[in-house]
Amino acid sequence: MKPNVLLAIETSCDETAAAVIEDGKTIRSSVVASQMESHKRFGGVVPEIASRHHVEVMTIVMEQALEEAGVTPEDLDGVCVTEGPGLVGALLVGVNAAKAAAFAWDVPLIGVHHIAGHIYANHLVEPLEFPLIALVVSGGHTELVYMPEDGVYEKIGETRDDAVGEAYDKVARTIGLPYPGGPHVDKLAAEGTDSLGFPRVRLEADSYDFSFSGLKSAVINTLHNARQKGEEPEQADIAASFQAAAVDVLVEKTMRAVKEHGVSRLVVAGGVAANSGLRQALTEAAEKEDVQLTIPPLSLCTDNAAMIGAAGYVRFRIGQFSDDRLNGVPGLEL
Ligand code: KG4
Ligand code: ZN
Repeated sequence: MKPNVLLAIETSCDETAAAVIEDGKTIRSSVVASQMESHKRFGGVVPEIASRHHVEVMTIVMEQALEEAGVTPEDLDGVCVTEGPGLVGALLVGVNAAKAAAFAWDVPLIGVHHIAGHIYANHLVEPLEFPLIALVVSGGHTELVYMPEDGVYEKIGETRDDAVGEAYDKVARTIGLPYPGGPHVDKLAAEGTDSLGFPRVRLEADSYDFSFSGLKSAVINTLHNARQKGEEPEQADIAASFQAAAVDVLVEKTMRAVKEHGVSRLVVAGGVAANSGLRQALTEAAEKEDVQLTIPPLSLCTDNAAMIGAAGYVRFRIGQFSDDRLNGVPGLEL
């Protein structure tokens, strides 16, 4: 039988991405144009700059994805696009490009939730088996999701303030590391020790929610107090202590969710899934509890369109199409 070929588009933040995916699991092409350099000097993503960059490269990235996959528009069975959450101006560029393409090529249009995409990045590595727990950790999200079956998402916990990646980036800025700071803090943490006793914020005993702003403030206060005394704490120890506190809580809550939902599959997604401390701690915990763990390779952890095609295929298969009213929704619920 002829495979289903979908073009997928992702523009929710600062990457303009397009991919061609076959049967929701095989990557024929995946193109990601990063704007990181343009945002670096501002220490974070500037929404207006992001939208402008998306407009400049959107069609080039789409053409490249088709060309690298060796397909023409006639070969396509549908167009998937991230409809939210994300920056509204950024989302609109992708949504409008997808609408135009689906209309011009007369194929179905499929709106996809960005977090569903991050979770289905794992499906491109190894077929997802249900039920499962997904830990989504990125610059914009920290969420625990229970999936009883394909395409069904129950958000059981989320951050009440900063996303974990955001906390990483802010801590990095505080100790003078470049943006995005997560990878730099991760590297530095390996050279230090967890000696500063930063708080593990667990919230209510039965809650799967997270809070990282207290931890971030503890880092800032520790530095401030030390500097007032004319001291400068070892940067590596700050990184190691921060990372240990963040990872402890993430792993603890994730493993409790796995146990309390009686699942034996755990998947991790989002940019912070690249973190070596988190990967190691989760791998150890999963082994101990006999849980099968999947963490995608780095290229599939950070924003890309292949993951949007994988998640979109679930909707495509059951005919859950969008129409020309599809819009970018910054706060879209999972
Ligand atoms: O998923 P992603 O590419 O974009 C969002 O949707 O947010 O995640 C980016 C985030 C940034 O905050 C970055 O600092 C963080 O992921 N990150 C890391 C690491 N690599 C990327 N955080 C901790 N350790 C890492 N190795
Ligand atoms: Zn993301």
